Amino acid sequence: MDNTITAPRTVERLVQGQATSDGAGVRLTRVLAQDLQRRLDPFLMLDAFGTERPGDYIGGFPDHPHRGIETITYMLQGRMRHRDSAGHESLMEPGGVQWMRAGRGIVHSEMPEQAEGAMEGFQLWLNLPARDKLCPPWYRDIPAGELPEWQGAGVKLRVIAGRAQGVDGAVQRAATEPLYLDIHLAPGAQLAQPLAAGHNAFVYVYRGELSIAGTLVRRQRMALLANTPGSDGVRLQAGAEGARALLMAGRPLGEPIAQYGPFVMNTQAELVQAVQDFQAGRLG
Ligand code: FE2
Repeated sequence: MDNTITAPRTVERLVQGQATSDGAGVRLTRVLAQDLQRRLDPFLMLDAFGTERPGDYIGGFPDHPHRGIETITYMLQGRMRHRDSAGHESLMEPGGVQWMRAGRGIVHSEMPEQAEGAMEGFQLWLNLPARDKLCPPWYRDIPAGELPEWQGAGVKLRVIAGRAQGVDGAVQRAATEPLYLDIHLAPGAQLAQPLAAGHNAFVYVYRGELSIAGTLVRRQRMALLANTPGSDGVRLQAGAEGARALLMAGRPLGEPIAQYGPFVMNTQAELVQAVQDFQAGRLG
């Protein structure tokens, strides 16, 4: 499998997420924060949440708006109920993905459907190109059993977006060609994954540890992959306990990024418009 990659990417930098809270007091780790939005364009945010204490998640995320982005929630443990102003409602369950394109505007809530037990997962924000920021909202719920997977020697891939090992992911996006993989590696197992040379890419390890081109990446660390000209992919090798990690890559938009909370547009004037539209009830 390693033959497919001849010029693997190296690790440019390791990043430790910041503990914070969002929604109604949900404790989480902001892995990809605003200071990396330019570097990891088209990805705007990655939050990791994981706790067994109900007090850390029970408040959930009551009604709030979005405009200009897509939010992708991937559950590992626990259950959250999603409701939005476009009429979508679903129960997010372990192993499932919820992909929501806010486009011109949506108001939604994500509330725990449990009073005890573990809650663990991720929320990624993917930017929309300027021409699509005001497109109609779109939504897809992908239950665990419908998420495309690939199995190799000591390797399981869950292909949320893009394409890997000949398997098409659940969602494709032409503008940014996002690749979003959940990678499960047995102890010592390796994966070689092709990546387009100009795409920004990172790996977030959430179980065990792995190495990338000689750099050890421990649990709860994000490795920014260098955009070395001529590189053709990345090689991961799990440590003695195996590893689980997210790998994301995408084509940068190269457009201005203006963010005000849940709105991400290209200019300040568009943010002012978003706030006015929300206050006037035009987002939902
Ligand atoms: Fe949200």
